[in-house]
Amino acid sequence: MSNLVSLLAHADRGGEVLVEGTSHILTAELGGVANLAAMFYRGLPGKRGAMELEALREHIRPRISRNQLGTALVWMETTHNAAGGAVLPLAHMAEVQTLARDHAVPVHIDGARIFNAAAALGTSAQEIAKHGDTVSFCVSKGLSAPVGSLICGTREFTERARGFRRMVGGNMRQAGPIAAAGIVAIENMVERLPEDHGTAKRLATGLHAIDASTVDPATVETNLVRVSVRASGRKAAEWSTEMKQRGVLVSPCATWDLRFVTHRHIGGAEVDHAIGAFADVWKIKSRSSG
Ligand SMILES: Cc1ncc(COP(=O)(O)O)c(C=O)c1O
Repeated sequence: MSNLVSLLAHADRGGEVLVEGTSHILTAELGGVANLAAMFYRGLPGKRGAMELEALREHIRPRISRNQLGTALVWMETTHNAAGGAVLPLAHMAEVQTLARDHAVPVHIDGARIFNAAAALGTSAQEIAKHGDTVSFCVSKGLSAPVGSLICGTREFTERARGFRRMVGGNMRQAGPIAAAGIVAIENMVERLPEDHGTAKRLATGLHAIDASTVDPATVETNLVRVSVRASGRKAAEWSTEMKQRGVLVSPCATWDLRFVTHRHIGGAEVDHAIGAFADVWKIKSRSSG
């Protein structure tokens, strides 16, 4: 909802959003950008979640012309979910921001996991947020609150966002208990995120040792581990079922890919159990393929 409300609050009806093509708003939010915010969007090619600057340069346009829409918004996502929790380098974010500013286009950061990005970069969330006009982030996910996302921006922007939150049915008079958990998340959970990054790395290293095609541990920067099971010949959905039978919950995120997530309740013992379960399922595959 915070992404959708951010889009609505930025929306310049009919304008175009420029966003890296595998971003969460395009792949997992049911086209809210077009369906509800009435914005056109262009998914730009990217590498590890970072849009190609050349493509951005080519497509950014300050104003509508006879045959092309103007750019209403540039959107970045960090850490990047589909890119396996990859962190956008600050230098990249700065270049995107400069290009956008040169064209008087605002920038939004989908920082659902911005504190993970900050931990991985050894910096603060503020340093990352500087590269956008507005930011959304979650207190759920690695920060452990049961629910909740926040939008940051100018007072004028957040007032507009409050209006759109009401429009999409998100107004709540009883938000105190939810906010209380969110405050605990921000005050107490940020500092421990590097632990999750350590367990994710340990998991990736273990899975890589079972079969090198599954994941390159060097690409694991934060708490997400995207694992290819293609070499097993069995699809990710089947793997998910087999892993569940062994006490490990892991979601398929593409036909041949699983997405493991580490968090406050996953320590070294749980990771080792998951590696053991994975090795077990990998063996079934070897047996069945002869
Ligand atoms: C990058 C990104 N943005 C936004 C969201 C949305 O968060 P929620 O599931 O709390 O709506 C997610 C969820 O996975 C995400 O990965």
